[in-house]
Amino acid sequence: MRTRMIAGNWKMNNNAAVTGEFVKKLEAWLDSDEVGKKSAAAVKDKKIEIVIAPPFTSIGAAVAAKKGSLISLSAQNAYFEPKGAFTGEISLSMIEETGCKYVILGHSERRHIFGETDELLEKKLAATLATKLLPIFCVGELLEDRESGATNDVLTTQLKRVWKNLKGDVVGEKVVIAYEPVWAIGTGKTASNDDAQKACAFIRDLAASDFGRKTADALRILYGGSAKADNSAGILSQPDIDGLLIGGASVAPESFEKIISTAI
Ligand code: PGA
Repeated sequence: MRTRMIAGNWKMNNNAAVTGEFVKKLEAWLDSDEVGKKSAAAVKDKKIEIVIAPPFTSIGAAVAAKKGSLISLSAQNAYFEPKGAFTGEISLSMIEETGCKYVILGHSERRHIFGETDELLEKKLAATLATKLLPIFCVGELLEDRESGATNDVLTTQLKRVWKNLKGDVVGEKVVIAYEPVWAIGTGKTASNDDAQKACAFIRDLAASDFGRKTADALRILYGGSAKADNSAGILSQPDIDGLLIGGASVAPESFEKIISTAI
């Protein structure tokens, strides 16, 4: 059984003060609301994992506000070099030190706004797997790729290169893949349940052909792109989708809680 993941990628939202309030509210909901308590039980039973990815400067506030261990933390990016003259970058060990469990790599905004390449992401993924941090590795096609029928080719290129030197058990146990079609991110356009399922099944089959069925069965694959409480249950009902990476609808606790409610 793969543990479902409901992960909030806050992007450049929620400063430290707001983050502290968010964490307190979410923990109070997990402790007092009827559905919240069920969600907390599901986390304890390892049926679901709740993750938030605040901006770097808000991670400390999340740690300070957090009383329990029901919420896991993720960073949104990292650099692969351990230290040195890389102005503006944050190393993996610095992120580990904060208490984060996960790090998001290869988000489409990193790829398309900041020019991150598959070559760079291969280094970032390998460096992450040499630490205790677990990568949430994002892939996804542009609208023009989808329209020209190139979705599977794009996913193949984005994954084969970064995992070609990895071992199957590492991929299955440590890597989380987030399928995020770029045309669905922040646009209000969600992939249909069927399209999201097809892409996630394709990724699982790719893992099976590269590493074997055991790895493919263990690999967690999330969907991301305008996921919200209205569509999350349908997406989560798909057999190859193990959770959601949520941007806009994860920034406020109330809408994030509603999505969690649909995942338990
Ligand atoms: P969105 O973002 O939910 O706002 O579309 C998802 C993401 O970019 O991870």
